[in-house]
Amino acid sequence: MTVTDQTLHRTSTVSRILVVDDERSMRELLAIVLRREGYEVLLADNGRDAISLLERQPVDLLISDIRMPDVSGVDVLQAAKSIDQDILGIMITAFASTDSAVEALRMGAYDYLTKPFDVDELKLIVRNALERRQLRQENVLLKRALQSSHQLAGIVGRSEPMLAVFKLIETIAPTNSTILITGDSGTGKELAARAIHFHSLRRDQPFVAVNCGALPETLLESELFGHLRGAFTGAASNKKGLVEVAERGTIFLDEIGETSPMMQVKLLRVLQERRFRRLGGTEEIEADIRVIAATNQDLARLVADGRFREDLFYRINVIPVHLPPLRERQEDIPLLADHFLAKYREQMGKAISGISGDAVARLQAYGWPGNIRELENVIERAVALEHSPTILPESLPLHIAGDRAAPAAAAIVDLPEEGFDLERHVQQIERDYIAQALQRAGGVQVKAADLLGMSFRSFRYYVKKYNLR
Ligand SMILES: Nc1ncnc2c1ncn2[C@@H]1O[C@H](COP(=O)(O)OP(=O)(O)OP(=O)(O)O)[C@@H](O)[C@H]1O
Ligand SMILES: [Mg+2]
Repeated sequence: MTVTDQTLHRTSTVSRILVVDDERSMRELLAIVLRREGYEVLLADNGRDAISLLERQPVDLLISDIRMPDVSGVDVLQAAKSIDQDILGIMITAFASTDSAVEALRMGAYDYLTKPFDVDELKLIVRNALERRQLRQENVLLKRALQSSHQLAGIVGRSEPMLAVFKLIETIAPTNSTILITGDSGTGKELAARAIHFHSLRRDQPFVAVNCGALPETLLESELFGHLRGAFTGAASNKKGLVEVAERGTIFLDEIGETSPMMQVKLLRVLQERRFRRLGGTEEIEADIRVIAATNQDLARLVADGRFREDLFYRINVIPVHLPPLRERQEDIPLLADHFLAKYREQMGKAISGISGDAVARLQAYGWPGNIRELENVIERAVALEHSPTILPESLPLHIAGDRAAPAAAAIVDLPEEGFDLERHVQQIERDYIAQALQRAGGVQVKAADLLGMSFRSFRYYVKKYNLR
């Protein structure tokens, strides 16, 4: 995130110019003129020294005589460019013949001067060159800033709420504070937790994720705190817990709202005292861990209902980070869709150039109850199904592509006087549509299911039922 390379430092200081000439009077003249202009000037009387200087110190501008024994000015320029491809070079030639000057320009010199030259001409060329370099660097920085504002450690977004989240993450990451990440399922809570870890000072230490909702109480306890041999039936040997594995790193307690009252007590203890005990052990072990918890539940509500300890809630909720549902950050949808398109296009080796405007509009109109995870799945599926160079609405699931109206009431017949077998009639219609869809989709069941607005699973059921295939 932080741009710390030399290019940035150099723009904020005085421009540094390296003058290379084997002729002493020339070096001195240039040094006097340029220093008077306020530049920092380095001098070299041969090409070899110039190159070794360039290797040690960043330079904004190179002014070099072309004709020098051993290493020529063009060689120096070439070496300079290989060190910093944006370096600007002004070449000096003493001869009326412009041959080598032309060569220098071809090599990427910014300009050249012919001896004898006018001091004002020199000043002007130098000023222009440095201005140009400055501009170029600003562009680079701007591009970088743009990139980083759309993405932070793999989290894509440019909507206002997401920019606020990026900023918050960058601010809180380097602290050791406990963080509570809230948000609906699929909003990127785990991704945010990882981003916090990787922007923290603990980034080289482990990031350990524990899903507190997935394990029964006792298993979770031994997962977290480890156990000693014989602590319970089946504990054949000592086992390290995840709290120990995460030592000096970050532990991510996912679905913290699902923990039992007993686990809540134990977690509170770790958070308060930074100590824990292995199952079956008596020894207190110190834990140097940073805790990030996440939940898609309303913990305050759980506290009010007496299902979550209030003291634990306050211990965890030190810095809350909320990830808004995708429907509240519509501007991010095209960006995210492109991001996932790039990911799956690469994975599946497909040449899909983009998402059609129509398809993007459908994506933006949809409500995304499953949030970003659902969007990712939809794009993955679309990439798999797509045969055209862009993703079309037809490759989106029916409920997103929009309702295609059911065929006009053709199928509805007036009820005959004597009545009829409705079930058989419906089945006939059903079978007919299933068969048609299958044919239209060239036997690809996922696609056929889509044509009828049903899940692949239901479609497969009908295929079996009617013995089609
Ligand atoms: N802003 C984002 N940019 C890019 N990818 C994202 C973003 N948010 C989420 N994802 C991706 O979406 C998927 C779901 O994200 P994640 O697992 O972090 O969500 P979650 O909030 O933890 O969900 P759950 O509550 O269901 O566990 C992941 O594959 C993740 O990489
Ligand atoms: Mg998660």
